[in-house]
This record gives sequence, structure tokens and C-alpha cells, in this order.
Amino acid sequence: MRLLEEKILKEGRAVNEDILRVDTFINHQVDPELMQKCAKDFAAHFKGMGITKIVTIESSGIAPALFTALEMGLQVVILKKQPSKVLNDDLYQTMITSFTKGTNYELTLSKEVISEQDHVLIIDDFLANGEAVTGAIRLLRMAHATIGGVGVLIQKQFQPGGDKLTDAGFEVYALARIQSLSKDNIVFS
Ligand code: G4P
Repeated sequence: MRLLEEKILKEGRAVNEDILRVDTFINHQVDPELMQKCAKDFAAHFKGMGITKIVTIESSGIAPALFTALEMGLQVVILKKQPSKVLNDDLYQTMITSFTKGTNYELTLSKEVISEQDHVLIIDDFLANGEAVTGAIRLLRMAHATIGGVGVLIQKQFQPGGDKLTDAGFEVYALARIQSLSKDNIVFS
């Protein structure tokens, strides 16, 4: 999506060859007009696929997920991160390891908000190693829901998440695909 690519070129900051900071429009300050346009793009792409619910992972996925849910007339479920296992029969939980942040956390889904009738679109901000999305898929499968696709604002193609998901048969749709990063050069695919 050209608009998102332009914003990344204007305001994105490559911290190194792996990490892109997008704090002025996605991760810290959020640009609602841009989010709305991104949501329209996701909604058009996934239209007619029988999606019943949008699922995202807190916290930076919430903005694009909410706008997409509004655009598609659906509810949005936010998977929550908790530091340790919470023993509760009403919850599904799975451990996620974040390579970028060097942390582990339990991703949590309440049985109340997803059912086996749901066909889910997962929306997130970044797709890097794919750990968060893979964990979300594990949780959704515990709930016997099906996955209609994965939409991300930014996919870093030099990291394995996108290929891993595509090889596993998931439809991955990224609005901006970054081929390589360096302090003074961001290259899109
Ligand atoms: P993965 O889920 O694709 O495997 O990613 P990884 O574990 O490597 O990274 C986890 C966290 O780091 C995620 O945020 C992800 O959005 C963020 N992240 C990955 N690459 C980048 C990057 O280049 N720039 C920025 N700004 N963030 C990146 P999170 O832990 O879920 O936190 P939150 O921001 O959603 O609260």
C-alpha cells in the first residue's frame, strides 16, 4: 500500500538492520486516518471469505484490528499477554517467545469470546519471526475456530515469519513488505 510505504519512508527510523521504529504513527502515537485507510484495504482483501471475527494481539495490533473490525462490521478479540500461567478452566493459554524483545509471555484467550463457529482474521502490526501469530493460531485451534487469513501492516521479509505461515497454508496479506533495512535506506519488495 503506497500510503503506508510513504509514511514509513518519511517517519520510520531503522534502528539497525533488523528493527524499524514506527513510534510516530503505529507503536506509540497512532495515526487514525492512516489506520482507517489500512483497514479499508484489509477489508477489501478479505471480503467474501466468511470472516466472523477479528483477532489481534495486544498492544500495537489493537488499532489496526479495531478499524478493520469496524470496516467489516465484526467484533474484535484482543489476545492478552500475561507474565505467567494463570490456572483457569475458562482460558486457553500458550507460551510465546519474542526474539525481538527477548521475552517470554503467556498469550491468553477466554473461551467466552471465540467458538468453533468462528472463522478468524488475525490482524497485527509487524510480522517478524511469526511467533506471536503462530501462538495466536495455536490458541484459536484450541478453541476449534478456523483461520481465514493473517493481515499485517508491515512484514519484514528478511525474517522468516511470512514464509513460515505461507508454507503452513495460511493466507498472509501485508500492506508493506520490507526487503531490507539500514539506517539510511529502507527497501520495499
Ligand atoms: P514475531 O511475533 O513476528 O515473532 O516477532 P518477534 O517475536 O520477533 O517480535 C515481537 C514483538 O516485537 C512484537 O511486539 C512485534 O510487533 C515487535 N516487532 C518485531 N519487529 C519489529 C520492528 O522492526 N519494529 C517494531 N517497532 N516492532 C517490532 P509486541 O511484543 O507484541 O509488543 P507490542 O508493540 O504489540 O506491544
